[in-house]
Amino acid sequence: MSQRGVLVTGGAGYIGSHVVKQLGAMGERLVVLDNLSTGFADAVTYGDFVQGDTGDTELVSSLLRDYDVESVIHFAAHTIVPESVAQPLKYYGNNTCKTRNLLQCCNEAGVKHFIFSSTAAVYGIPTGPYCYEDSPLAPINPYGTSKLMSETMLRDLSAASDLRHVVLRYFNVAGCDPDGEIGQSTRHATLLIKVAAEVTVGKREKLMIFGTDYPTPDGTGVRDYIHVSDLADAHVKALIYLRDGGDSATLNCGYGHGYSVREVVDMVNKVNGTPIVAEEHPRRAGDPPELVAAVDKIHERLEWKPQYDNLEFIVRTSLEWEKKLAAKRG
Ligand code: UD1
Repeated sequence: MSQRGVLVTGGAGYIGSHVVKQLGAMGERLVVLDNLSTGFADAVTYGDFVQGDTGDTELVSSLLRDYDVESVIHFAAHTIVPESVAQPLKYYGNNTCKTRNLLQCCNEAGVKHFIFSSTAAVYGIPTGPYCYEDSPLAPINPYGTSKLMSETMLRDLSAASDLRHVVLRYFNVAGCDPDGEIGQSTRHATLLIKVAAEVTVGKREKLMIFGTDYPTPDGTGVRDYIHVSDLADAHVKALIYLRDGGDSATLNCGYGHGYSVREVVDMVNKVNGTPIVAEEHPRRAGDPPELVAAVDKIHERLEWKPQYDNLEFIVRTSLEWEKKLAAKRG
């Protein structure tokens, strides 16, 4: 029998493309479904690429059948928090309703494993310094709620069927492929390190520091920045875990320690060699002061050993990719 397939939705996007690269290098049979609303076809370095939407149940069902799909890794989603506040239905439609349709197709096709991209945004404003997987779930923006609703559907479907799943709650994903082959090409970037990288190549004039009066050591927001290649490896390990018969699990993906916006800016200045313009502004809507992952559970469940827990490396790979992108786009 030929090898069973893995469907990767959103595999032309930032995180999905890094996972496709790692799975492809391992010889997995991949089919990548992406509507290219934010992704790029040339970021798909392995497998068959199909341009289409996860909400297209006919297309999804045919891919599940044609590739004999046993495992689905679902990245396709909108991810911009302020946009989710302004256009909530866009987020519930794309992130929640389409995930429901995808799950129905998976259920009908007998898919066994499902790996879902969730987010630290499901925790809202944490009550303590760390977010544990069983901490209260109280998202403060529609993006987080749209993901939490999908987590819930997945939990209920796994309880009612043979499906097993891993929910990965990402903290702040940053950095780019250390080989420089792929990276973060997002057109309208909002993420801190990406925006700072754009300032270093002159794509933007300045970085805005949102909020300097948070109850954190230097007054700016603190986040747990995880290198995208380590995050991609967590997906690979989650797939192996499910294939080995592991129970459904929800796991934080971070390093377990945070950096403030000012610390990130200092590192960008150090790696860049020239300071960037960074202006202080009021807080941005929907931003909690501090988000750091409790990481015992992921280490306990998956054989995951991060390799790039180093802010300088994260920033350097981001800046190198941004230079490449600037040269390519002219
Ligand atoms: C948010 C989500 C996260 C999601 C990500 C993708 C929450 C709590 N987290 O991360 O789940 O995956 O968006 O969109 O909703 N900052 C600046 N200037 C900038 C950009 C950011 O000062 O130009 C600050 C922010 O105020 C924050 C930190 O940098 O303190 C990180 O922000 P960002 O990179 O946008 O990610 P989050 O909002 O933490």
